[in-house]
Formats: sequence, C-alpha cells, structure tokens
Amino acid sequence: MHIPILKEEILKEVNENGNFIDATFGEGGHSKAVLEKIKPQKVLAIERDEALYHRGLKLPGIILHHGSYVELKEIVEKVNFQNISGILFDLGFCTFHIEESQRGFTFLKNEPLDMRYGNQEQTAEKIVNKWPLKELEKILKDYGEERYAKRIALQIIKQRKEKRIENTFQLVEVVKKAVPYKKSKIHFATRTFQALRIAVNDELNNLQKGLDQAYDLLEKDGKIMVISFHSLEDRIVKKFFKNIKSKLILPSEEEIKNNKKARSAKLRVGIKK
Ligand SMILES: C[S@@+](CC[C@H](N)C(=O)[O-])C[C@H]1O[C@@H](n2cnc3c(N)ncnc32)[C@H](O)[C@@H]1O
Repeated sequence: MHIPILKEEILKEVNENGNFIDATFGEGGHSKAVLEKIKPQKVLAIERDEALYHRGLKLPGIILHHGSYVELKEIVEKVNFQNISGILFDLGFCTFHIEESQRGFTFLKNEPLDMRYGNQEQTAEKIVNKWPLKELEKILKDYGEERYAKRIALQIIKQRKEKRIENTFQLVEVVKKAVPYKKSKIHFATRTFQALRIAVNDELNNLQKGLDQAYDLLEKDGKIMVISFHSLEDRIVKKFFKNIKSKLILPSEEEIKNNKKARSAKLRVGIKK
C-alpha cells in the first residue's frame, strides 16, 4: 500500500471551503484525506494508470477520471468542476508500480522493460532497442543526469546487436558492463532507469503542461501543491513559481524514518495571484 507523503502538511494547506483536484490519484491516499477535510466540498481525482483507476473506483465520494493531467482543462470542463481552491501533483510512481505492476519500474526484479503508466505506444523496450546512440545518450544525460551516459548508450547499442534487450536484468547487466565500479550511495542502474521512465512517460513535458493548466483553473488565492522527487522536476516547479508567492516544505525526520520514499520529497506550494 502506498503511504501518502507529506499528508499532514498538505492538509494544512487545503482550504475546506473549496473544491480540490488530485491530479495524480495513485492509490488514493491524498484524495481520501483531503475529502475527509473538505466534505461536503468535492475532490476530482485523475489517474493515468488504468489498473489504479479501476482500484480507485472502490473509494466512495471521489470523482475519479481515467486520463492524464495533460488534459486537465478538458477533464474539468467535461465534469463541470468549479470553485477550485487547491490542486495537487504528487509526481512519479506509486508503490503499486514497483511491487505489483510487473512493468519493469525496478531493477531489483526481473520484469519486461515496459515502464508505462498509460497506454501510450512508447515503451522502455522500444527506446532501448530502437533509438539511435545520440538520442539514448541525451536522455541518459538529461533525464538521468548520468555521467556515464555515452558509455551506457554505446553498450546498449553493442548488446542489442547481439540480442534484443527485453527485460530489466538484461539492462542492469548492460549498465554494469558500461560503468566503472564505484562504491556509491545509489545503485549503478538507478539513473538509467529514471531516464527511461521519464522518457517513456514524457514526464517533464507533461508536468509543464499540467502546471500551466492548473494555474488557470484555480480561483484567486488557490494553491498549486507539487511533491517532486528529483531535481529535474523541482527545477520546473521552482521556475513556474518564480513570479508568485510560494513556499517549500520538506518531510520531517520522523516521516523519513518511517517512509524511505519521503527522503527525496519536496513539497512546493504556489499561490494564485
Ligand atoms: C506518487 S503516485 C501518487 C500517489 C498518491 N498521492 C497516493 O496517495 O496514493 C503518482 C501517480 O501519478 C500517476 N500519473 C503519472 N503521470 C500522470 C499523468 N500525466 N496524469 C495522471 N496521473 C499520472 C501515476 O500513475 C501514479 O499513480
């Protein structure tokens, strides 16, 4: 079960007299908590992953929509949702994706290289087996901030000529061959997996599009709340909030102790002018 991150801190920011949008429903932890606080106001939640959407339908009281927050305005119009005083983006993946989805989000299990949240055409397997060297190198560098991007990209090309790279363990072996052994806090394949996940789901472009629409939809003094998990996401959010009042909230030591995923989380709250 996914533990909602910074839940209490988010609840403090929620205005109980307005409606709320949870743009990344996931396993519903935040949506449920916010609904409890704002009832009889309403929560509209959006989830791109079909399996999570179907699970979420069991939660009473939440208006759940299967789709992407890239279509936020369209969805809001369709369900005629108004008086929006808060919108939450809790970025990245859920516990479900790692533990149950079997879509290759983790290098700790041998699964097919899929990495999709949605039903789009693009998969990690297609990228790894088809993209040219320069493009592979670029995503590893830009989305993974991987210093050995070129070496890994070259090794991918070499390996796929011999045998198609279809699962996570094959990819881990490829990365292992490409990078020099170094004792490090993070696993050597972490950055490669992050880069592929971001590319498959177009996460950074989507975030920008979601934020633009969210801002337009909010009432005056309404709040956009974004929980990000790495510097690429946080940079986009920080830039977006540059000209509006905003604040940064970090998880407490207590929360980090109880939930490892909270370690890298940052919550930014921006207030609509
Ligand atoms: C960190 S989880 C959210 C967890 C949630 N706050 C909870 O308490 O259970 C992020 C979720 O966003 C979903 N997601 C990713 N991109 C999306 C998009 N463009 N539109 C809607 N949902 C998206 C993922 O499928 C994932 O379930």
